[in-house]
Amino acid sequence: MKYIFGNWKMYLGAEETMQLAEDLASVTIRVDQVQVGVFPVSIAVRDVVERVGGAPIAVGAQNIAWVPKGAYTGAVSGLLYKEIGCTHALIGHSERRYIFGETDEAVRKKVEAALDVGLIPVICVGETREDLEQGNREKRLHEQVTAIFAGLSIPAHQSLFVAYEPVWAIGSGEACDPSVAASVHTFIRQEIAQLTAHSVFVLYGGSVDEKNVLSYLTLDTVDGVLAGRASTQKESLIAMIRAAETIA
Ligand code: PGA
Repeated sequence: MKYIFGNWKMYLGAEETMQLAEDLASVTIRVDQVQVGVFPVSIAVRDVVERVGGAPIAVGAQNIAWVPKGAYTGAVSGLLYKEIGCTHALIGHSERRYIFGETDEAVRKKVEAALDVGLIPVICVGETREDLEQGNREKRLHEQVTAIFAGLSIPAHQSLFVAYEPVWAIGSGEACDPSVAASVHTFIRQEIAQLTAHSVFVLYGGSVDEKNVLSYLTLDTVDGVLAGRASTQKESLIAMIRAAETIA
């Protein structure tokens, strides 16, 4: 099983989002080969859940608040997303970390909040270009993974994803070399294994598109991809799903 997750960010308007959701819902997906998930802009999530209806497409939040309800202006909680039919939640995307100042502590609280309400967390980690240039990739990943998993209580049978998304590869067209991604995934898996015996799916994200997707999906250490821009175009999103279906 491979996972094709699409983070639609704030690329599409409400109508464009609906159109893409409808287009996707009309595609036949080989559910024995691939699981598809999309993360629409918050105001469109409820409609996307309705549009995809009975199609085998998971819908998730791009971000959640760490409290369920209360006086938190502008926030939307995991509980509320769960109520409208979401199953997954992106947590700690680098745009949340580096544009909106989300700390490792905030990421941890959001992971706990997602688990509390029964959402499947898709937790993003990854080094910045500066980390990379200073030889601090593993140090950064160690810090992020530790903040997420140390002492974390994970319910039995809970699905959980970590997405390795090197910040320098996101939206840059400069995807991480697949052989490098494979070894970083191995490192991330080892780090996680020191903190929990729970099994975790590990995705790659960062300038994935229909042309390079197979070079990641064919790697044993890569369970799937989290695509941004390429997932907002019908043709490339469907091409990535079809690519995943070719893997035995
Ligand atoms: P990108 O974004 O595919 O546009 O690089 C990936 C992501 O941010 O999840």
